[in-house]
Amino acid sequence: MHKVTVKEIFKRKGKKPIACLTAYSKPLAEILDKHCDIILVGDSVGMTLYGMKTTKEVKIDTMILHAKAVKKSVNRSLVVFDMPHKTYSNKFKAYKNAKKIIKLTSCDAVKLEGGKREVNTIKYLISKGIPVMGHVGLLPQTSNNFKLQGQNSAQKRKILNDAIAISKTGVFAIVIECVVESLAKEITNSINTPTIGIGASKQCDGQILVIDDMIGLNSTSPRFVKRYSNVRKNIEKAVKSYCKDVKKRKFPFLENVYKQ
Ligand code: KIV
Repeated sequence: MHKVTVKEIFKRKGKKPIACLTAYSKPLAEILDKHCDIILVGDSVGMTLYGMKTTKEVKIDTMILHAKAVKKSVNRSLVVFDMPHKTYSNKFKAYKNAKKIIKLTSCDAVKLEGGKREVNTIKYLISKGIPVMGHVGLLPQTSNNFKLQGQNSAQKRKILNDAIAISKTGVFAIVIECVVESLAKEITNSINTPTIGIGASKQCDGQILVIDDMIGLNSTSPRFVKRYSNVRKNIEKAVKSYCKDVKKRKFPFLENVYKQ
C-alpha cells in the first residue's frame, strides 16, 4: 500500500486539494486511513474526548496514548502529532519532546502553533530530521480571544508575516485557522508551502476539521464546520432501543445466548 509522505504533501501546493481530519482512536483512524491524506492527532482531543474547557490543559502523555492507537491503525495516511501547550517553549525542550513523541508513537511529523516566535524552534526540529507542520491564525493554545482572525489590516499583516516566516523554515504544510477569506487567499498565494484551512475558506490548498464536529458527535460546533452526518442522533437512537429491550426483558435475543 502506498504511504503518503511529507514530500508528496509539499508537492501538492496548488494542485489536488489535501484532505485532512483529526482522529484520536483506532476505529476512526481505520476509516480515515482509507480516504484522508493527513490524519492529525490533535490536541482538540482534550475538549472533544475529555471535556476540557481549552486545549491548554492537554498533557503530552495523554496525547501519546491516543497517537499510538491512531498510528498502529493507519497504513496509508500521513499521521501528524499535535504538540501540546508548553511542550515546545524553547527549541531544546521541543526537540526532547518531539524525539520522545516520534520514538513512542512512530508518528510521521509534529505540528506546533505560532508564527515568527516559533521560527527558531521549527528550524531546529527540522535540522534534527523531524518534519514539522505549522499553524497560524487563531492559536487555541495561547489565545484568549476565540474570534475570527484578520479582521483589520494590522492583524492581517501580522498573520501574513507569521505565515511567510514559518514557510521559510521548511515546514511541509501550514494550518490556517479561522481567518477571513481574503487573508487565506493572500497567504496561500504568497508562500510555496501548502496551506490547510480550518475556517479559512476554499482559498487554501487543503482542508482540516475536527472529526467529532464533522460527523455530528459533538453537541455544538463552529459555523465553519459542515456536519456530514448526525452520529450523535444515531447513537442516541441505538442506546434508547437497547435500554427499552433490556427493561422489557427482550435483550439478549436467542442469537445472543450461549446454550451449552
Ligand atoms: O487540535 C486540533 O484539532 C487542531 C486542528 C483544529 C487543526 O489543531
